[in-house]
Amino acid sequence: MNIQRISPEETFSLRTRLLDPNRTWRDGDETAIHYGAFIDGEVVGVASFFRQNQDEEIQNGHWRLRGMAVDELFQGKDIGRALVSTFLSNHQYQEIWCNARRGVEGFYVKLGFLPTYEFERKTGVWVTRMVLKSEDGFN
Ligand SMILES: CC(C)(COP(=O)(O)OP(=O)(O)OC[C@H]1O[C@@H](n2cnc3c(N)ncnc32)[C@H](O)[C@@H]1OP(=O)(O)O)[C@@H](O)C(=O)NCCC(=O)NCCS
Repeated sequence: MNIQRISPEETFSLRTRLLDPNRTWRDGDETAIHYGAFIDGEVVGVASFFRQNQDEEIQNGHWRLRGMAVDELFQGKDIGRALVSTFLSNHQYQEIWCNARRGVEGFYVKLGFLPTYEFERKTGVWVTRMVLKSEDGFN
């Protein structure tokens, strides 16, 4: 398995299948950073990081993690952890946040994120705001 930067378009297939089959993904945000995990030349895991603070405004060192998905065949093999770790090793951050679906909070906790509060999206889906802070400002 190896992890590489990928284009937004390369994340769409896994996101659609594993996260929301009815959604049209459009990530026009050129400042976003997308990572893909490859096995035998196929993308089997994706994670995208957007320069956004929790008010969804651009702020240095603040990142929103979205679209985290690992192919069912390869889940539980540390690929999700490797995708996030690769980002953490390669980019400065003060805070990374995401909205975890029910049942997935534990994955983010294993990576050091802390749950802050739970809320219902317009779609009726409940999510928990998870936050990972770097101890000393920028990492
Ligand atoms: C959630 C997801 C990205 C995790 O990726 P993964 O590659 O399977 O996870 P990893 O193997 O890297 O797991 C890292 C750790 O988190 C734990 N973990 C993984 N999924 C978990 C879950 N749903 N609940 C609790 N812990 C979980 C693993 O057991 C492992 O712990 P360990 O260190 O004790 O072994 C993947 O299961 C997935 O794509 N799920 C479907 C889509 C989805 O729900 N995405 C997230 C939307 S918020």
